[in-house]
Amino acid sequence: MTLPVAPASTVPAPMGRGTLSRQLVVRTTALVALVTIALSLFTALAIFQILQNQLDDRLQSAASRPDRFVGSNPPTGGSDPAGSGLIRIDAAGGQFLVSSQPEGLTAAGTAMLLSLDASRAPVTMRLPEVGLYRVLVQEREVREVIVTTVVALPYREVTTPMTSLLMMAGLLTLVAIVLSFVGARRVVERSLRPLTRLATTAHQVSNLPLDSGEGHVPIRVAPADADPASEVGQVGLAFNHMLDNVEHALAARHRSETKVRRFVADASHELRNPLASIRGYAELTRRGSEELPNDAAHALGRIEAESERMSALVQDLLLLARLDSEPTLDLQPTDLTAIVLNAVSDARAASADHTWALDLPEDVVMARADANRLHQVVANLLANARTHTPPGTRVETALSRVGDWAAISVTDDGPGVPAEIQDTVFERFTRADASRVRQAGGSSTGLGLAIVAAVVNAHGGEVALDSRPGYTRFTIRVPLA
Ligand SMILES: Nc1ncnc2c1ncn2[C@@H]1O[C@H](COP(=O)(O)OP(=O)(O)O)[C@@H](O)[C@H]1O
Ligand SMILES: [Mg+2]
Repeated sequence: MTLPVAPASTVPAPMGRGTLSRQLVVRTTALVALVTIALSLFTALAIFQILQNQLDDRLQSAASRPDRFVGSNPPTGGSDPAGSGLIRIDAAGGQFLVSSQPEGLTAAGTAMLLSLDASRAPVTMRLPEVGLYRVLVQEREVREVIVTTVVALPYREVTTPMTSLLMMAGLLTLVAIVLSFVGARRVVERSLRPLTRLATTAHQVSNLPLDSGEGHVPIRVAPADADPASEVGQVGLAFNHMLDNVEHALAARHRSETKVRRFVADASHELRNPLASIRGYAELTRRGSEELPNDAAHALGRIEAESERMSALVQDLLLLARLDSEPTLDLQPTDLTAIVLNAVSDARAASADHTWALDLPEDVVMARADANRLHQVVANLLANARTHTPPGTRVETALSRVGDWAAISVTDDGPGVPAEIQDTVFERFTRADASRVRQAGGSSTGLGLAIVAAVVNAHGGEVALDSRPGYTRFTIRVPLA
């Protein structure tokens, strides 16, 4: 039998893996990132369209301007006076009527421009040496001659502002993501803090030893966390109601248990007097009449034996009832060596048919114990080793220190505790089947080991059994003084 140990449960950290707060923060941040990126992309696309349209408008107006220069063949070049990088080539019938072109435009570039079809929509193309250009080609009829006009403007007028815009948008997106992460984290942590406190309270309650005592549950969710206005508050409120309910139920159970215990204690107490009278009258009858008829003598013997058994039973019941209701132990530093010595010498006196061995440590072992009760524990174990084993059995009683504990073990080489009752042997009224009980002399009540367990548990100790045919060891442990 081991003492109940509360599981070491912990509340997960607020931002721990898989927690609700972590999920909320991650999802909020992801949503903000998605929206910001989409918004940036749409804005960039719109501005790109506007810039390109502006460029195209300028191309149109440049193309529709009358020729400013009419040069000879081949083109002599000459840069655009405004420095806008404008290229303008007018050609008719293989003749160049050069308007303007930037330095660096190669012949190949010029050829590329002239090879373009005259279409209405401007196109973007990369010209060797000078880079990306937006190009518009138009054809006009001037004095019955078809003049092809090529106008081109550097595309950087679109790409340069677009690059800065995209960099700006990227930076803003990054800032938005960081801000939303920090903000979401703060908001989520703050709004989930009551839930964390609730979990802590629940853990505290689950660690309470509710299986014993009056069932008082001293823990409640704080009023601030039990405000029905919020969802978490509703959980807190429901939790408090549940705890009230549990407390009421435990208190009711405790009251009814106390009533039963008091009844058992009272009943046992009341039974002691009539039992004493029965035994007294039986003894008187035996002494008063010299010669009793055989069957009357037998009946008298049975009356004496049964009333003795009943007295033992009543005494055990009374003791158990007392231990149950309030384990009033007189805990003092107690010399266990003396207790073991006394108990074994009593057992030796009670049965010379058994071999009684002792294994004591050199020095005295002191434990925090109630000497009378502990004597009874050892006496019960020795009585069992005497009554539930055949004559000739060797019983060894050992005392030792195990860590902070004092251990007393009673080992015998008798037939062993029947396997079917080993699990429940420390419970009340557990005993071997009737035939074996009769062998044991009919004094079996099934309460001896229950008393052992109750007394040892009241000491904060433990009891254990290890038994098989030919080897049975009962061990009790109590804290050292
Ligand atoms: N040393 C032992 N060897 C064999 N059986 C035992 C021993 N001690 C206890 N038992 C078994 O455990 C049962 C319960 O013991 P206990 O609670 O002391 O009740 P009781 O001795 O009154 O029968 C006994 O009836 C017996 O069957
Ligand atoms: Mg017994």
